[in-house]
Amino acid sequence: MSKTYTPEELKKLPFMNENLNIEQRVEDLLKRLELKEKFKLCAGRHRWETKPIDRLGIPAFLMTDGPHGVAPHSSGGKECTYFPVGICRAATWNHDLCFQFGKALAEEAREVGAHMILGPGVNIDRTPLCGRTFEYQTEDPYLNKKMAVPVIKGVQGERIAACIKHYICNNQEKNRYTYSAEVSQRALEELYFPAYKAAVEEADVWSVMGSYNKINRVYGCAHKKLLKKVLMDRWGFRGFVVSDWNATHLIDNPEDCIKAGLSLEMPRAKHYKRRYLKEAFSKGKFTEEELDEIVKRLLRVMFLVGIFDDPSTLPQGVRNTKEHQDIARKIAEEGIVLLRNEDNILPLERDQIQKIAIKGLNADRKLAEGGGSSAVKPPYEITPRTGLEQKCEDKIEIIDDVEEAEYVFLVLGLDHEEHNDVENSDRESLELPEAQLDLIDEVTEKNENIIVILINGSPIRMDNWINKVKAIIEAWYPGQEGGHVIADIIFGDVNPSGKLPLTFPKRLEDSPAHLTEKRYPGNEKVFYEENIFVGYRYFDTQNIKPLFPFGFGLSYTNFKYKNIELDKTEFSDNEKLTISLKIENIGKREGAEIIQLYIQKVHPKIERPVKELKGFKKVFLTPKQNKTIQFKIIKEALSYYDDDLKLWNVNEGEYKVLIGGSSRDIRLESKFNYKKQ
Ligand code: BGC
Repeated sequence: MSKTYTPEELKKLPFMNENLNIEQRVEDLLKRLELKEKFKLCAGRHRWETKPIDRLGIPAFLMTDGPHGVAPHSSGGKECTYFPVGICRAATWNHDLCFQFGKALAEEAREVGAHMILGPGVNIDRTPLCGRTFEYQTEDPYLNKKMAVPVIKGVQGERIAACIKHYICNNQEKNRYTYSAEVSQRALEELYFPAYKAAVEEADVWSVMGSYNKINRVYGCAHKKLLKKVLMDRWGFRGFVVSDWNATHLIDNPEDCIKAGLSLEMPRAKHYKRRYLKEAFSKGKFTEEELDEIVKRLLRVMFLVGIFDDPSTLPQGVRNTKEHQDIARKIAEEGIVLLRNEDNILPLERDQIQKIAIKGLNADRKLAEGGGSSAVKPPYEITPRTGLEQKCEDKIEIIDDVEEAEYVFLVLGLDHEEHNDVENSDRESLELPEAQLDLIDEVTEKNENIIVILINGSPIRMDNWINKVKAIIEAWYPGQEGGHVIADIIFGDVNPSGKLPLTFPKRLEDSPAHLTEKRYPGNEKVFYEENIFVGYRYFDTQNIKPLFPFGFGLSYTNFKYKNIELDKTEFSDNEKLTISLKIENIGKREGAEIIQLYIQKVHPKIERPVKELKGFKKVFLTPKQNKTIQFKIIKEALSYYDDDLKLWNVNEGEYKVLIGGSSRDIRLESKFNYKKQ
């Protein structure tokens, strides 16, 4: 029986010494643990925490959902700031905001006593029907990593662990516990890996959550190749892998998880029950070194979040501050996307309007507490109606009669009920609910000035009604300040600057995951036959016109792109190619533009997308102001995964740089040559 230390004795042990480096502290603590205590550390209890080991003063490590605010179900029902959902944040294309969001989220997590936040979610939007599209970011791997890395840095800067999820190919909710994503190495490398790889290499992420599904017939939480070989050995992941909640249930045995590198089974032990581990260990199914490896990873993160340190030396937590509310509002301001604005109907002039009508189910709904694990209970939530009412106060009358109103606001979209934007089920079609289509018909017969506000987290079919309405604002689920921001955009106090982080197809059948049932929904296997052609990579290469392309979003001002210059016409390994251009605000309002840089291989020898995003900049300009923008690219921006060589490769030859305001609005282009040294 090992010694139980008194608090005084504990304080003197080397692992408690804040002046030692973390690796020394981990080693010291590890060597004090008995085998059964190591077993104990590997599984959770009470849904959200690890088991404490009192003898050594190891407290429970506490985890909380989720990706757009601290969840009530994992924080004792606490009220926390409801930030706009992941897809809205991604639509800002603003990394500074992502950092600020991460920091604020961590401050709230710290305040509720948690050590780890279960987010961000970065699964690629492969199908528009995925129930969790709203929680994730984008269809594009470059935008995905650029938006994920600053969130993680923001969170971990507060010494709270970020947990990037769900590794990997958890691209649909239907059959999520059983399907196997049948995916090529090239698609993994080019599309599905990059956000995780960057999270490890650029943000040193402290935790990764293993997915429910299988990947090429092996469960995510027992996937030695993807966890041990890729995540840990190849990318150098130093944190720990946690299972998604109950994601281990259909795995055969504990040793597969241990050997793959799964440190923590949540929410409680299934395979990592002490007696099972003991039995497997005594039969030689895994070694103590293998066990130490997974335990060490967890201990290391415990030290990183300061679980053993004097709390007064740690960053302090706060919740629901004005600053956090402002960040939520700013994300909505920059993430809401103006999709349509016929006759420049927007922005409206408050002084020139007497009567408006507000219709549609989503006008009055508070949606923070839905969606599944990403639910948040905010102290308040401004609905679209409340935001509009406050904006109109004393100036504009809000009436019921749509014929009499000068403008009608139709607040439509989805919600977090089953088969909408929700965890554990996918949508069944791209259409708006029937009753909303009827409402559009009814109202558009009576009034010409219809402004649609969409509250939803995934693409919606619109080609059957779009021409009947003047304006469409894609507000996503815009967080607790959403109603204010919608009103600000409608009345021009905010100039919209969000751009779509995913393609809106005209019809579901146009979407590459929906060409056959093998691809979606699949059955035991889901065949990712579209390979690297997801989102605009498919639409652009096949020349299929989407409803709204990737990167699209309107503004109340206009921008002129000019003077593209490349600093060289030929470039080679270890060199940088500098691309510069001028952007000018030629409209009458101040506003921000997201300038996108795509690369195209001219006459590719192998199959390649017609263009791929490799850079973007968000620039704020006052009227007549212009700025010179510079992009620098290195050869990685030209590379692809070579299936034959089994590595990333770059082909010599001609490439185009395409610069524009969306994937389908290329304003400038230039060519260069790449030559190997
Ligand atoms: C979800 C995770 C979540 C976990 C804990 C799972 O069902 O897939 O994203 O973090 O539950 O609530």
